[in-house]
Amino acid sequence: MIGAAQIAEIGGHLAVRAGTDPPAAWDLRIDAGEAGWDTDPARLRHAKHQALMRAYQARYMLLPEDAGGGSILARLRRHYDPAEMARLEALRAELEHELLAPALETAKQAAHGRNLAAYADALLPELRARPEDAFTAFLRTSPQREAHYRNFLIQSSADLLAEASASALGVVGEFGAPQSALFRILIDEFGYGAHGRKHSVLYRAVMRDFGLSDTYNAYWPFFDTAALELHNAIHHLFQNPRNFFLQVGFLLFAETAYQRSTRDHARYLAEFHPDADARYFAEHTHIDLHHTRMVIDEVAVPLVETYGEEVGAEIVAGAELTRSAFARAGEHMLAVSQAFDAAAEAGLAASAPPDLAMLGVAITPTAAARLGAAPARIQVGGLGLVLSAAAFAAFPPGAVGRTLGVGA
Ligand SMILES: [Fe+2]
Ligand SMILES: [Fe+2]
Repeated sequence: MIGAAQIAEIGGHLAVRAGTDPPAAWDLRIDAGEAGWDTDPARLRHAKHQALMRAYQARYMLLPEDAGGGSILARLRRHYDPAEMARLEALRAELEHELLAPALETAKQAAHGRNLAAYADALLPELRARPEDAFTAFLRTSPQREAHYRNFLIQSSADLLAEASASALGVVGEFGAPQSALFRILIDEFGYGAHGRKHSVLYRAVMRDFGLSDTYNAYWPFFDTAALELHNAIHHLFQNPRNFFLQVGFLLFAETAYQRSTRDHARYLAEFHPDADARYFAEHTHIDLHHTRMVIDEVAVPLVETYGEEVGAEIVAGAELTRSAFARAGEHMLAVSQAFDAAAEAGLAASAPPDLAMLGVAITPTAAARLGAAPARIQVGGLGLVLSAAAFAAFPPGAVGRTLGVGA
């Protein structure tokens, strides 16, 4: 198990590599090392997920939005310095083993001996028959719905502002006809080369309409542990070629589930935020019908025909892993939203977008509990400020806030 000292050490290297006041795209910092952080297991787990996210992000081409100060080439070379990247990469396998392997093991056991064709046939009717997405159903009843939606957009932005960059890593190489089907899905995700239709660009438009920055990685300090866990679970699949058949399972579940959940979001936005740009959701409601069929008919079924039922069970495991990862993230976000509403009702929380100029220090409910009844200003994701440490202590495990002053 990787200890706090190793995470603090890598955090120090990442901060040096990022330099002072880095552009968001090249901000590599994590929350490790400040006084007392390592005595809180939830904080340590959070920092480990941040470190793993940094390892995954380093595999992408990221550029800041403008040249900024100093030589862009010198900063590019520092950001992608192979020796420094190797330092973090050396921790990656162990972080994946500790943070992500248990859920994968559970999914593999659940999928043992399952038949892919029967599973795929049942999945779409099952997901279509579901009641409305629990989060959008909750929003209809909450007076703080705008704050909750803002938080949803921020937590989901970890992945969606670079949508399909993870799955792109599963497309390069040489593996026959299924590769070409995956590539056709990928070019849809990238808007067929029309920048304005790229899914991440459509997502940026919704963020702007909720008053948020649309810059990739800008909100990393406000991702909670569950959001990082979902991001990392997806990237763990696609950044390891040994997980190829699990990747296909991810796509099978994600494309099938997304056509339904995005429909709920499109309807919710049309009803409660009619001025917000909802093209991101409307586009998925439509195109993921096709992506589901393509994954099943042109990728999963042919792979099983070629390689046998062993890979079918692995594809089902990837789908079930994805189901549980989305469910955990969704349940957590709803629990955080409900805790925020309870605090607001008691007069102990107020809706506010996060202030990117004032990052504060990460704090968990466990650490807040130690502060007793002290007044505080704790920004929780995109929701707003919780005004007492005791109120934040009642938030669910995995919630992370940033203190903008305790005892003030
Ligand atoms: Fe997409
Ligand atoms: Fe899709």
